[in-house]
Amino acid sequence: MTILDGKKLSNQIKEEIAAEVASIKERGEKVPHLAAVLVGNDGASLTYVGSKVRSCERIGFKSTLKHLPEETTEDELLTVVSQLNDDPDIDGYIVQLPLPKHIDEEKVLLAVHPDKDVDGFHPANFGKMALDMETFIPATPYGIMEMLRRYEVETEGKHAVVIGRSHIVGRPISILLSRKGKPGNATVTLCHSRTKDIKAITREADIIVSALGIPHFLKADMVKDGAVIIDVGITRVPDPGRERGYYITGDVDFKAVSQKASYITPVPGGVGPMTIAMLLKNTLLARERHSGR
Ligand code: GUN
Repeated sequence: MTILDGKKLSNQIKEEIAAEVASIKERGEKVPHLAAVLVGNDGASLTYVGSKVRSCERIGFKSTLKHLPEETTEDELLTVVSQLNDDPDIDGYIVQLPLPKHIDEEKVLLAVHPDKDVDGFHPANFGKMALDMETFIPATPYGIMEMLRRYEVETEGKHAVVIGRSHIVGRPISILLSRKGKPGNATVTLCHSRTKDIKAITREADIIVSALGIPHFLKADMVKDGAVIIDVGITRVPDPGRERGYYITGDVDFKAVSQKASYITPVPGGVGPMTIAMLLKNTLLARERHSGR
């Protein structure tokens, strides 16, 4: 069994990007600039965005955090989005999800200029991805694909089962795994809350991507020997015994499932760190496009 070490791999990717940034600086060109918009004070979002900003600093990107109060109106947020679209120094930006309930997420995502949409959430970019055109691939599925590629995990002709149909992970990874290419060329089944007898389906899977957010959902009896397990779940489970009051766990019963798996991602330290690395890669791509290189 091989652990797919997202922490190590993401550090390697970040070092590659840092080297690019160093040569950009040497040439006296503009360094990539990523902005993040965060509305409110959701604990997990604060952690993710903080981590994105710190990573930018570490590799030499410029970064801007627009932290807006919970009461921000939809119009106020759309004004910030429009300013970011018009700011020539910003190469790309993200609007951290989820947004507060009074704001229409779809409206905001549609307002992000597709050329600055380093999350790849705008329909123009999502559509391009589905049609195999070059675009920004959403960072989490992009991170999973990069992990499979660098660990040389075979996907061709394999039965990949994706659990969860979210726009951020489940839907895009199901498209990417079935695309022509390496990794890709898998036969994909997309399971969701209305799927009947998920266990019968996962037991047939060569590759399982679980993106549900239900701790320990995937048990050993749902997995066949030698399966590749990708755990995208990151749930904070309250634990008064710990200093920060919670611990982080994935969708997979890691201890038992890792006994049967050929490859498996840990949580934390698997898909999570890869997401940030790929967001930075998309920002580098955005900057190259802006400078017409
Ligand atoms: N919330 C959870 N994952 C993501 C992500 O990849 N991008 C943004 N913008 N929000 C998220």
